[in-house]
Amino acid sequence: MQEKLNATLQEINIAQPANAEELENFRLKFLSRKGLLNDLFEEFKTVPNEQKREMGKLMNEVKTAAEAKFNELKEKLENSTIQSTVDFDLTAPGEPSEIGSRHPLSIIRNEIISIFSRIGYTVQDGQEIEDDWHNFSALNFPEEHPARDMQDTFFIAPLPPEGGTSQSHEPLDGKRDSKHPPSGGRGAALRTHTSSVQVRLMESGKPPFRSIMPGRVFRNEAISARAHCIFHQVEGLYIDENVSFADLKQTLLYFAREMFGEKTQIRLRPSYFPFTEPSAEMDVSCFICEGKGCNICKYSGWVEILGCGMVDPNVLDNCGIDSKKYTGFAFGMGIERITMLKYRINDLRLFFENDQRFLNQFKSAI
Ligand code: PHE
Repeated sequence: MQEKLNATLQEINIAQPANAEELENFRLKFLSRKGLLNDLFEEFKTVPNEQKREMGKLMNEVKTAAEAKFNELKEKLENSTIQSTVDFDLTAPGEPSEIGSRHPLSIIRNEIISIFSRIGYTVQDGQEIEDDWHNFSALNFPEEHPARDMQDTFFIAPLPPEGGTSQSHEPLDGKRDSKHPPSGGRGAALRTHTSSVQVRLMESGKPPFRSIMPGRVFRNEAISARAHCIFHQVEGLYIDENVSFADLKQTLLYFAREMFGEKTQIRLRPSYFPFTEPSAEMDVSCFICEGKGCNICKYSGWVEILGCGMVDPNVLDNCGIDSKKYTGFAFGMGIERITMLKYRINDLRLFFENDQRFLNQFKSAI
């Protein structure tokens, strides 16, 4: 008997069930009612009394060992079942996820906003579909101005028949009254500049106004390396009592130095816009060759970056602002142009093609 018990104990100790089936076989073999332990208990009854004590001790040892083994393996197996349903290493370090980058136009737009917000300009948003009044008429565009021509503007609502009447010039917000006379009868169009937001701002309240208007604009242009039918502008407007051309010049000088470096010089050349008088175009000294001449400034030392001027009194009156009391200036620049200059991008189309090889270059510029 003793020999049998020792052999069983050894067998238990070396048993290594590796799965549920083997564990069940272990149980059947040793612990079930028909198992080895039960047989041994039966046999124990026949053991002579003087050996019972010693054998009983051994019996218990075998029984405890079998149960302990069973429980230990059962637990181990349960844990490993959970693990085996998850076929990856939960403790492995995560895969690095790629962070995208801002579009270069957004980087420059944000920079422009930040520069002007530091001198008190707020950001004004507007609509991309405009009526004739806000895009042209209120801005003092004469009825026959070529910018109204189909060549430049994407009209949405159909043109009225020749000599016919049409409702299509109704302002989109339905606000037409004596302040919003019908003009041109050309209906809705995609805005050709964000000056329309200036009109809406001036109509909305009382001066002072000091805002910039970033946004997307549309012109009916053939797409090339230097022109696109969609581009982005930031325009600015400052209206208050006693605003002078000197204020305009100083504001733009501050902007140019923040944007292109503190050594930057500016130059204002007389120009024409229907909505400003006097009007000017502003050049900055070439920040690449510092005025010595290079292919960016076409060997002139200067690069043109924006249009500006004092808001024409007609525009103020059109927007319900007393032009005897208030004066102001406005300016407008193309974000693409400034971005191309700053990053030396030579093809405008790159901005709209979503080519990762192009966009990934701006990762560090966020
Ligand atoms: N609206 C002009 C343009 O689109 C820019 C501009 C704005 C010029 C304000 C002068 C003053 O070209």
